[in-house]
Amino acid sequence: MSVEQALTIADLKEQARRRVPKMFFEYADSGAWTEGTYRANEEDFHKIKLRQRVLVDMSNRSLESEMIGEKVSMPVALAPTGFTGMQHADGEMLAAQAAEAFGVPFTLSTMSICSIEDVRSVTTKPFWFQLYVMQDKDFVHNLIDRAKAAGCSALVLTLDLQILGQRHKDLRNGLSAPPRFTPKHLWQMATRPFWCLDMLGTKRRTFGNIVGHAKGVADLSSLSSWTSEQFDPQLSWKDIEWIRDRWGGKLILKGILDEEDARMSLGSGADAIIVSNHGGRQLDGAASSISMLPRIVDAVGDRMEVHLDGGIRSGQDVLKAICYGAKGTYIGRPFLYGLGAGGKAGVRRALEIIRKELDITMALCGERDLKNLSRDNLYKDV
Ligand code: FNR
Repeated sequence: MSVEQALTIADLKEQARRRVPKMFFEYADSGAWTEGTYRANEEDFHKIKLRQRVLVDMSNRSLESEMIGEKVSMPVALAPTGFTGMQHADGEMLAAQAAEAFGVPFTLSTMSICSIEDVRSVTTKPFWFQLYVMQDKDFVHNLIDRAKAAGCSALVLTLDLQILGQRHKDLRNGLSAPPRFTPKHLWQMATRPFWCLDMLGTKRRTFGNIVGHAKGVADLSSLSSWTSEQFDPQLSWKDIEWIRDRWGGKLILKGILDEEDARMSLGSGADAIIVSNHGGRQLDGAASSISMLPRIVDAVGDRMEVHLDGGIRSGQDVLKAICYGAKGTYIGRPFLYGLGAGGKAGVRRALEIIRKELDITMALCGERDLKNLSRDNLYKDV
């Protein structure tokens, strides 16, 4: 089956499972501990029921929207994901190109395989950059400056990874950065020949945001110990100030899941917050993103844009988030599955699938423009 034949994100996921070595596929397809929050992110979308309407004009529909003042062809950005280049060679560059062609934002992770400059070299429009705050502040300053120099149009500051959550699948698979090559890992790769051929064809230097830039990380061998020690456990609201000042552009705070934190973010000068639990990869037992969205939207009102990620697997899910008041959404795993299944064409297919589902769902709800959607399109008591 080709990626063009995939009808759902689940189809792309199965294709990726067959093409990507197990340890890398499971890196994407896993959550923290019991994976309860990871599952709840998806399941809670299904509890929300849409109002079907009939005999209303459903012609000339529009999905166009704005996220932080940028025009988007639909309100779905690609979320920042680390190690993306392990799903497919040059993964970040391919995903960024697919997003650009589709007219949606791409967010490059600090922990990406391709660097800021690599992605800049293959795109023509600005992309977004996601920042992890490390203890080495010179390194952080330098990363912000590099993102600025590359013309990135938004900084997405991740707040929910002061310490790293534990994912049992990664531990059992012995996943490390850089990857170790035990016989088990070599066997996993040998059974995925197309993935290997693509990897052999790339000359990209891996983890280019970090290697050669962070103190003590001259090459890949020191990356693993550096990463495990560097996330800043003391990150606080005060840090937002200097980051915002040094960056000087649009700022999005990622990882807000609590109303109180949402209210506190109002004074931070950020342009938007992302309701997120890191795709269920950090605090297992936390509430799903979609279940927290309405109360967070109510807490901040129209004083700040609210975005959401976590569990979106269809255009229907996007529509439900928009109905609850999100100005934009992000997909992580759906685009990673597409990437693993078929590189740039697979990411494009993931976006096409979501756009089609979003458009049809909107029409059958009796709406022609996403801007008109509200909680009135959902049932409160069904
Ligand atoms: C992530 N996420 C993430 N977030 C971030 O701010 N920086 C990062 O480097 C990563 N890395 C990462 C790797 C992988 C493999 C996944 C799946 C996720 C979290 C990501 O941005 C987003 O919050 C979730 O992926 C959203 O949930 P869904 O769409 O994957 O269900």
